[in-house]
Amino acid sequence: MQQGEIAIQDFGPDHIEGAVALSRQENWPHRPQDWQMALQLSSGAVALDDQGRVAGTILVTPYGADCAMINMVIVDRNVRGKGLGRRLMEQALALAGDLPLRLVATADGMPLYEKLGFVPSGTILQHQGKVAELGALDGGEAAVANDLPDIKALDRDAYGADRQALIDALAERGQFAVIRRNGAIEAYAAIRPFGRGEVIGPVIAGSYDEAKALIAFFASTRPGAFLRVDTDSRTGIAGWLEEIGLAHAGGGVAMDRPPKNGTEQIRPKIYALANQALG
Ligand SMILES: CC(C)(COP(=O)(O)OP(=O)(O)OC[C@H]1O[C@@H](n2cnc3c(N)ncnc32)[C@H](O)[C@@H]1OP(=O)(O)O)[C@@H](O)C(=O)NCCC(=O)NCCS
Repeated sequence: MQQGEIAIQDFGPDHIEGAVALSRQENWPHRPQDWQMALQLSSGAVALDDQGRVAGTILVTPYGADCAMINMVIVDRNVRGKGLGRRLMEQALALAGDLPLRLVATADGMPLYEKLGFVPSGTILQHQGKVAELGALDGGEAAVANDLPDIKALDRDAYGADRQALIDALAERGQFAVIRRNGAIEAYAAIRPFGRGEVIGPVIAGSYDEAKALIAFFASTRPGAFLRVDTDSRTGIAGWLEEIGLAHAGGGVAMDRPPKNGTEQIRPKIYALANQALG
């Protein structure tokens, strides 16, 4: 494959098969359904060689008019180091327009993102494995359909952006749990099928104990199941995830463009991401 013969096009449903092949090459766990969900929420670009094969991917996932996540940035191993990653990023920047951007960088991606003005803001830890037998902790309960507007409002407070479309996509595929106090929803978590099993996230809670109760609400009913939780190192929840059988398995560096202004989040807080790619 020669770099000169590679064209950049809009990412459409026909490119999912090729995209899955690329993510498998990286040992990323995304199934076609996981790419479909990401594409449903995003616009994006693919790099196609002269045979029409997918040689690179990128998605831009807008959260309302507030910000966008750049994700699923992959270039075929055979054509790396020739400027294709940068071409895909430039296409993504054009798709994002003026929106502030966020992403979670792998070591491979960091140099490119730094050159494009992204600045580190945190460390994301992936935890996954077969969950141990675990008792339910007090507090969590299953959400009902009527809870979705309150879940969306809580999520917006914590994330600082309108992720209604993401929450609707999670509701199509998974379940939600909430913690209520005096009838109001104070914390929520979602679970959905993803990769090798299920992913728990987002988890938005006012305290560490609430976050644990929500994760335990799902995990306690799934002994031996393969679960994944992606968390920011500052939440302090990684040690407990290890204890319940979810071992540290990689992660990345959260980056922003322009840089965040440094104000620390007070509460409610993001204890787990939807996943590393979606933030
Ligand atoms: C990240 C990735 C997409 C980059 O693709 P690529 O086609 O090799 O990227 P490019 O050839 O456009 O190189 C990007 C830039 O990074 C620079 N770069 C790459 N590695 C570097 C390093 N170790 N130190 C300094 N700069 C580096 C290149 O010089 C280039 O800079 P330039 O545009 O100013 O010349 C590719 O490595 C990949 O698919 N990795 C696996 C999946 C992954 O981790 N994706 C990132 C997810 S966040």
